[in-house]
Amino acid sequence: MPILIGDIAPDFTAQTTEGEIRFHDFIDGSWAVLFSHPKNYTPVCTTELGYTAKLKPDFDKRGVKVLGLSVDKIEDHAGWARDIEETQGAALNFPLIADDGSIARLYDMIHPNANDTLTVRSVFVIGPDKKVKLKIEYPASTGRNFDEVLRVIDSLQLTAKHQVATPVNWKHGEDVIIVPAVTNEQAKDKFPGGWNELKPYLRIVPQPQG
Ligand code: BEZ
Repeated sequence: MPILIGDIAPDFTAQTTEGEIRFHDFIDGSWAVLFSHPKNYTPVCTTELGYTAKLKPDFDKRGVKVLGLSVDKIEDHAGWARDIEETQGAALNFPLIADDGSIARLYDMIHPNANDTLTVRSVFVIGPDKKVKLKIEYPASTGRNFDEVLRVIDSLQLTAKHQVATPVNWKHGEDVIIVPAVTNEQAKDKFPGGWNELKPYLRIVPQPQG
């Protein structure tokens, strides 16, 4: 069964560069990003892990815990981590799972018609309720855009807190949309500054702060 948005993210126990982790305990009421890498000592993965390490303060600010995964042995992670620091100028500062393939299979990260052993580049964003909020899949040869992952997390957190959705190409600080589930009566309380009603279903408000 594929894991779909809205499903509880399956729990697992994993060996990582920061010791054994039980995934649901790791989440512990935070937001989480679980992302896979096709293989250690590969060029695209090396750049992605270095960049994600540089973004650690941005993930921290949003209350997001980051967890990488590679189907490789734990002893191989240490040498690769040194290469990441040397070439990307940032040391790994989040746990990297040494998977035997079982977590990759649990999360459908191996797409056999692409490659029967390497994972694709999966990203799962998981909420404090342990439910999957977002899944993205890229082929092995295309590095992901982790600024986009942060942008989506900003959108998800705004929806969770303020019942607003974000329009096409939205960036932090731009106007947002009142979700259809909020009636005009409720919107008057939530958005006392009012909104721009282009259509009854398209109500624009400045991005709520806080
Ligand atoms: C890479 O990380 O560079 C990579 C991994 C597998 C296939 C292609 C590229």
